[in-house]
Amino acid sequence: MTSLKCISVMTTCSVFGALLAIIFQALWTLNQLNTVTLILTGLLALENVHRGGINEGYEKPKVAVGYGGCADLVVNATQLLSYPEDGVSFEKDELLSEITDEKKLIDNFAHYFENGAASERFISDDKLFKRLLTKAKTKLKDSIRWTLGGNAPMMGVRFLKEGADVLLATRMSEKLRKHLPTEIQLVGDVIDEDDIHMILEYKTGETWGPFTAPRANRFIVHNDHRNPFLQAVEWLEDALKNFQPRLLVVSGIQMMDTFKFEPGVREARIEKVKEQMIAQPRNTLIHFEMASYVEKDLLSLIEKNILPYTDSIGMNEQEVANLNRKLSKDTVASATDSNPRVAHTLDLMREVFVNLRSSYASNSKNKRPLTRMHVHTLAYQVILIVKGSQWNNTKNAAAKAALTAHRHVCANEVINPESAMLILDSSFATTVNELIVGKPQRIKIEQKDPVSCWSESVKVQSQIIEYEICVAPVLVCRDAKQTAGAGDNISASGLVVQI
Ligand SMILES: *[C@@H]1O[C@H](CO)[C@@H](O)[C@H](O)[C@H]1NC(C)=O
Ligand SMILES: *[C@@H]1O[C@H](CO)[C@@H](O)[C@H](O)[C@H]1NC(C)=O
Ligand SMILES: *[C@@H]1O[C@H](CO)[C@@H](O)[C@H](O)[C@H]1NC(C)=O
Repeated sequence: MTSLKCISVMTTCSVFGALLAIIFQALWTLNQLNTVTLILTGLLALENVHRGGINEGYEKPKVAVGYGGCADLVVNATQLLSYPEDGVSFEKDELLSEITDEKKLIDNFAHYFENGAASERFISDDKLFKRLLTKAKTKLKDSIRWTLGGNAPMMGVRFLKEGADVLLATRMSEKLRKHLPTEIQLVGDVIDEDDIHMILEYKTGETWGPFTAPRANRFIVHNDHRNPFLQAVEWLEDALKNFQPRLLVVSGIQMMDTFKFEPGVREARIEKVKEQMIAQPRNTLIHFEMASYVEKDLLSLIEKNILPYTDSIGMNEQEVANLNRKLSKDTVASATDSNPRVAHTLDLMREVFVNLRSSYASNSKNKRPLTRMHVHTLAYQVILIVKGSQWNNTKNAAAKAALTAHRHVCANEVINPESAMLILDSSFATTVNELIVGKPQRIKIEQKDPVSCWSESVKVQSQIIEYEICVAPVLVCRDAKQTAGAGDNISASGLVVQI
C-alpha cells in the first residue's frame, strides 16, 4: 500500500516537474524572441541613412572595386571530402604550407573545419584540383551550385544594390559576364575561361570523422592561374581618372598566396597596386579588404606596400588576429577562436591601429593615416573611426553590417526573429589589456538602441588620437544557407553608408 502511494506521489511529482520544465522553456523562448525582436527593430531603425534628395544636390556615391573575379562552385564540404578510411594522423605543424597533395588538403581541411575558421587556399597540384572538380560535377551534381565569385564582383554587386555607381575591374569570360548586373561599369578584357573557386560549405555541428564544426563556415580551394597576376590593375588605371570615385576598394590580393611566381614578379605586381593607391587624390577614400593569408612573405609585402596607403581595413576575427600577429611578432597565426569575446577583438584592433599609426607617424611621405577599421565576427560587428576623419554615420554602418550578416547567411531579405539568435551577452567589457586604454568599462547593450558607441583615445608617439568605436550585435542565422561572400556583403554595406 505505502509503496503504491509512494509511486503515485512520484509520478505526480515527475509529471509536475515536466510541466514546469515545459512552461519554463516556453517562457525562456518567449523572452528570447522578445529580445531578438526588440534588437531587430532597433537595428532596422538605424539602417537607413538620410542622404538628401535630388533637390538637395544628392549624387550617388561612386565606388571603384578591384581586382579579379572567378566562378564559384558551391559544394557540400563533408560530401566532397571523404574522411580518410585509414584514420590518418593529422600533421598540425605543416598546416601553413601550400597544398601540394591530397594529404595536405585533408590536413588543412581538418584544421579549419575543427576551428570553424573561414579560409582560402591555393592547390598547386593541377591534377588534384581537377579530380575534385570532376567529383563535384559527377557524384554531387544534384547539389552543387555555380555563382559569380571573387571579392571584387561580390562587393561591387552589394554597392550597386545599396545605390552606388560602381566601376569594377576584373577579367571575365562572356559566360560569367552574364551574371553581372549591366548597371555595373566593367573594365577588363574578355577571357576564354574563368578561374574556378570551389566553396566547401559546412554547417554548425556538422561532423567529419572525429571533428565537429563549432560554427557554419566554408573552406575555399582554388587553382587560379590568372587572378594572382592582378592584371585588372592596369585596366583600372585610366578608368579611375575619368570615374573619380569617392571610394576605391582594393581586394583579391590573397590570390597570390602560395602561388609560384617567377622571381620578382609578385613584388612588381604589388608595387603596381601601391602606385595605383598613391595616384588617387585625397578625396578618394581607399579601403583594403583583408583575407585569409598563410604566407608570411606575402603579408610582409602587404605590410610594406598596401597598409601604409589605405584609409580603411575590413576583416574577420581570424584575419585581425593574423594581421596583429604579423605586425607584432612577424609570424602568421593559424586558425584562432571562431567566436572571440568583444574585449579580445577590441584589443587586437587597438594593437593593429597603434602599430600602423606609429609607422605612419615616423614616415608619412605619400602615406595615408589609417582612420577606419571594420571587424566582422559571427556574434557582432565592430567599426572604429578616427574622429575628424571623412567617415560618417558609424553607428548606422555597424547596424547595417549586422543586418546584412543575417540576411546573407539566411539567404533572406526579410529577417524573421524566429530564425535568429543572439550569441552576444547582454553586456561586454571594453578591454582585457589595461596597458592600451586603461581600466575596462562595462557596456550594456540597450535592446531598444542596440548599437553601443563610445569614445577613446591613444597616444601614438607624441600625438593623441581620438576615435569612436561602435559595436552592433548580430542576429545570428540559426540555419545557415551560405557563408561564402558574407564578408564581402558585410564590408560593402558598412562602407556604403559612411561615404
Ligand atoms: C552536407 O551533407 C550532409 C549529409 O551528408 C548534411 O547533413 C549537411 O547538412 C550538408 N551540409 C551543407 C552545408 O549543406
Ligand atoms: C559627413 O559629415 C560631414 C561633416 O560632419 C558633412 O559635411 C558631410 O555632408 C557628411 N557626408 C555624408 C555623406 O553624410
Ligand atoms: C551578397 O552578394 C551575393 C553576390 O553579389 C548575392 O548573391 C547575395 O544575395 C548577397 N547577399 C545579400 C544579403 O544581399
